[in-house]
Amino acid sequence: MKIAVIGTGYVGLVTGTCLAETGNNVICVDIVKEKVEQMKNGVMPIYEPGLDVLFNRNIAQGRLHFTTNLSEAIKDAQIIFLALPTPPGGDGRADLSFVLGASKDIAKIITDYKVVVTKSTVPVGTADKVKQVFLENSTIEVDVVSNPEFLREGVAVEDFMKPDRVVVGTSSERAKALMGELYAPYVRSGNPIIFMDERSSELTKYAANSFLATKITFMNEIANLCELVGADVDMVRIGVGADARIGKRFLFPGIGYGGSCFPKDVQALALSAEEYDYDFKILKSVMDVNQTQKIKIVEKIDKYYKSNLKGKKFALWGLAFKPETDDIREAPALYIIDELLKAGAEVVAYDPEAVDNVKKLLGDKIEYGDNAYDILEGADALIIATEWQLFRNPDFDLMEKKLKHKVIFDGRNLFDLHKMVDLGYYYNSIGRKI
Ligand code: UGA
Repeated sequence: MKIAVIGTGYVGLVTGTCLAETGNNVICVDIVKEKVEQMKNGVMPIYEPGLDVLFNRNIAQGRLHFTTNLSEAIKDAQIIFLALPTPPGGDGRADLSFVLGASKDIAKIITDYKVVVTKSTVPVGTADKVKQVFLENSTIEVDVVSNPEFLREGVAVEDFMKPDRVVVGTSSERAKALMGELYAPYVRSGNPIIFMDERSSELTKYAANSFLATKITFMNEIANLCELVGADVDMVRIGVGADARIGKRFLFPGIGYGGSCFPKDVQALALSAEEYDYDFKILKSVMDVNQTQKIKIVEKIDKYYKSNLKGKKFALWGLAFKPETDDIREAPALYIIDELLKAGAEVVAYDPEAVDNVKKLLGDKIEYGDNAYDILEGADALIIATEWQLFRNPDFDLMEKKLKHKVIFDGRNLFDLHKMVDLGYYYNSIGRKI
């Protein structure tokens, strides 16, 4: 099939590349010239494990193209994916100007039937707004489809190529047939393509992310309670997760959820509900608890040092909001850094991928290291904010030589409690005994 993808951000690039991988001819459009030139030369603008192989293969085999020219991209395309940003506007609601603006541009150019797919996370009712834009700006028949993405950063290729499900929201049989054909290679193992109406599809995306954010937040609260009652959240997590109705995934407590999706989507859903005069109380609590959870670890640190953090030096492992990404949007590490700096402490950080992004944001407010061990030199304590595999089995002998004191605050529960006691550490993690 011939496909156009408008927007080569994270979602657009993964979508375009993975659609080319099953033999489709894909043209990706972006307005940033330099980025398009780079991609044409095989330079990927994001870090995503495994994507580079598919990206280079499909460019080399002539199935994946990049352009700044919208008309050229959509001329022969049967399906046009809109993968444009929907950032929270000043009022916290998703800003649809990119999606609606591109729809208008497309409407003015097309000369034959197209399926226009909203891939970005958009509020309920957006497909109707996009339809309206086409009706106002074109006489050509267009079907607008909602097809939310469920990609996790770090494993996006796997999530795209072998999705648990594909959700397609459309009221058109013609669009349904085309979308079914496009996604058939990805669901060969029997996972479903779930067809529904546009509004249900749009809401499914918000409901999924908000439910997952709630699940994590619930476990964060259980972890906080574990600390007070002397229970071990790892045991509780395993005990609870063994119930198939609950499931063992996404029950890991930590320092709050971050990233570009959960915080934005939970907020947007709560606000959408408000528009319909519905007070979505659970989501408000989720946001509230998550905000506190991000800096709870600093409260623990503050307590340990009896509110005297001035001049203390903290080594920080992990800056990205989660492993296998360089994404630092809403990363708990940034909140932790902010609190520590406010209290007069020094921070020296290491992350396998995200250092450059943090440098752009924080400059020399903190120090950065090239590897996990150098930054421990003379540090009063180590704080762990991201569960990179690299940190899970460290060289404890080397750590001991470098750290000034054997003190670790672990926001990701990486180490065994007994082992840490044996090694003589003060080891403070989440929802477990000290
Ligand atoms: C999330 C969803 O998982 C995807 O299905 C969705 O497509 C995506 O948002 C999106 O809307 O685009 P992502 O933000 O990449 O994906 O990351 P997750 O792996 O879901 O992690 C989100 C946050 O929750 C991270 O901060 C992570 O550390 C935290 N988390 C996750 C926990 O604290 N505990 C867990 O058990 C799992």
